[in-house]
Formats: sequence, structure tokens, C-alpha cells
Amino acid sequence: MPKTHLEFYDAHGISPVHYVVGDTQQHFERRASLYRSLGLISLACRGARVLEVAVGSGQNSLYVASLMPASLTLVEPNPTAIREIRELYANTKVAHTKPSLVEMTLQDYMPEHTFDIVLCENWLGRVPHERALLRKLAGFLAPQGVMVVTTLTPTGFLPNLIRRALSVRYCDPRLPFADRTEQLVTMFAPHLATMSAMTRSATDWVQDNMMNPAYFDICLTIPDVLQEVGNGLNALGTNPSFSTDWRWFKALCGEGREFNRHMTGAYQAELHNFFDYQLEFSQPDVELNCAIETSCLVFLDTVRDYESAALAGMDLTDSFSEVIACLTNIIGQLKDFPEQVKAGLEAGLKLLSDEERDLQKVAADSPFSRLFGRETVYLSLIADVTPARFDARG
Ligand SMILES: C[S@@+](CC[C@H](N)C(=O)[O-])C[C@H]1O[C@@H](n2cnc3c(N)ncnc32)[C@H](O)[C@@H]1O
Repeated sequence: MPKTHLEFYDAHGISPVHYVVGDTQQHFERRASLYRSLGLISLACRGARVLEVAVGSGQNSLYVASLMPASLTLVEPNPTAIREIRELYANTKVAHTKPSLVEMTLQDYMPEHTFDIVLCENWLGRVPHERALLRKLAGFLAPQGVMVVTTLTPTGFLPNLIRRALSVRYCDPRLPFADRTEQLVTMFAPHLATMSAMTRSATDWVQDNMMNPAYFDICLTIPDVLQEVGNGLNALGTNPSFSTDWRWFKALCGEGREFNRHMTGAYQAELHNFFDYQLEFSQPDVELNCAIETSCLVFLDTVRDYESAALAGMDLTDSFSEVIACLTNIIGQLKDFPEQVKAGLEAGLKLLSDEERDLQKVAADSPFSRLFGRETVYLSLIADVTPARFDARG
């Protein structure tokens, strides 16, 4: 039974991470907007040595390649993805720096030099060996270099964890891969269609999010990343952007810099704003936010246990009751939250409890069908813990 991203992709000969990009211009504008909020304006890439690990389709790397870095190294071990990356670069008309494709895992990769920019999106999660790989990546950075990784926010993860529980409840995880893909697309394609800016196909999305066994472990939070690499790196930016900094720049020296502590505080103060990608509201109780985050992590474990029991053909009564009890508890914690969030989660709970298990009921328009969290949060970090010393002679 596959456990990791790579084993899962390998087992089914897939790389379910294509962007349905429309035109290249739009794709590049999206990437430019993302990097800009992470402090990576295009000039930062020009002439830089860039590394991207876990490249997937290669479509994101093409934007970086078009900014004319001095070198671009792409590390990707999945044979399907490698084939697609080769095709992409063979066929593109965009002027670019030719990348060097390293067909191996990050575990096996040891570069000959450091990099100014290190990118790794939508792969590394919270399990110990992936945290170790995160530290390995950080070790590749040159002084003043910038690393970009993706994190997950447990509150933003909740709506899709409910979808994952619905996937188990309505669609036996032991069904053949193609059949299950088809049924899950029936359930969730209408949900995905409510997001006008969505760039992944429903098939890719269900395979990577509802079927991928590694999905549960991608829940690596911003504080987790700072704990792993915060001794050598300072938080720089995020997308979505939620941290405002009213501190006077003149106080931001020596011990006063504390960018990681500041980022952690902003994260905890804003946890409520990740539940629904369409909402932003005020909720000043930070302790409540932290308690809800913990409950969402417990929910993650209950959904994983429920799915494991279903895969093992066990009796599901207890594990399913845990899922329901945990979600009911979370909804209780949100009693003062906006109606839109509560109604969405309650509709999800109702679908979970529905005995009929009709896929079309899940697919139908409801307050839950449009509820998606701000799940993935990009984080950039800079290796400026010891700020550069400049020669005053010039
Ligand atoms: C969810 S995909 C993300 C792809 C791309 N970064 C994106 O955001 O579209 C995860 C990627 O990690 C790659 N991957 C899995 N295990 C890896 C490993 N041990 N070393 C390097 N890459 C790996 C997979 O092959 C896949 O391309």
C-alpha cells in the first residue's frame, strides 16, 4: 500500500498537479503576484542561482526560467513528471534559462554549490523525515538567500478534511482507482467549480487531495517551519498575506528584529480567517483560535483513523462516531463566528450523517459545497539572521 506522494504517484503512473493555465501570460501574472507577496520581485531571480525541488508539471518553474536566472536546477524523481517537464521545455516558445533537470529524490541530492533561491511547493509535510528534508533544503541556501515553501493551516484544512471523510463515507476506499476517481469527481467537481480562480482539473484534485495517502501529513504549519529552520532563517512574507507590522523600523535591530516571533503572533491572531477563503472577519480571542486549531488537528487524526479502518475492512462504528463528535465539538467552538462559516460546516456535518449516501446530494449546491478554506499558505524565509556586514569604504 503506497504511503508517500512518490509511492502513490508511481503506483498509478500519475502526476496529478497540472495547472489548467489558460494562456501563459495569465499563468505568469499569477506567479509574479505570488512571488511579489513573498518578497521575490522578478529582479531577485535575474542572475540568481535557483533550485526548485518537487517540481511536478514544471509549469511553475517555467516562469522562474523566464526571469533569466544564472542557473535553474530542477529536482524531481517521478518519471511521469520528468517526461512532462522535458516536453514542456522542448515545446515552449518563452525565452528562458535552460534548466538542469536532476532526476532523483531530495534524499539523494547533494548540490555542488549553494543557491540564492530555493523553492519547494506542495510537498514537504509534518512527519519527522520530511521535517529533516526541510532542514536539508534550508542548508542549501547562500547567505541572504530566500527559501519558499508551502505550509498548511489546520483551520483552513478543515473543509477539505470533511470532504476527505465524505469520500470515505460515500465511496469505499477499497474501490479500484479509476472507479473511485470517477465517483469522487462526481461528488466534488461542482464544489471546485464554485471557485472561479481554480487552476486544477477535478480529476487531478481528487487524486491528489481525496485519494493521496500522504494528504494527511501535509499539515505543516508556519510555526512548525519556524521551529525547524527558524534558527537560521527569518520569516519574510506569506501568501495570503496576513501579517501587518506596525513596529518602527528603527527598533528592528539586534534582538528587536524578532521576525519569526512576530509572524507566529500574527498567524495565531488570524487563524479564524483561514476557515473560508471568501471571508475576512474580526475575532480578537487568540486563545480561542489556538484551541480551535488544536481541535482541527484532532479532527485530522480522527478522519485518518476512520479512513484506515475502512481500508482495513474493519467495523467503522467507533471511528465514524469520533469523526462526528469531533466536528460537532469544533462547530460548538465557533458559536460566535459568522453564519456563513457555521452554516457551511453544519451542512458538511449533515451530509456526513446522512444515511442515504447519495453522491448527488454531496454534489448539490449547499452552504458546504462552496466552503473552501485558505488551506495552503506560502511562506518565504530569508537567510539574514546575521545581517550582512558592508564594507564602508565604497
Ligand atoms: C503535490 S506535488 C507538487 C508539485 C509542484 N511543486 C506543484 O506545486 O505543483 C509533489 C511533488 O513532489 C515530488 N516528490 C515526491 N517525493 C519526492 C522526493 N523524495 N524528492 C523530491 N521530490 C519528490 C512528486 O514527484 C511531486 O512532483
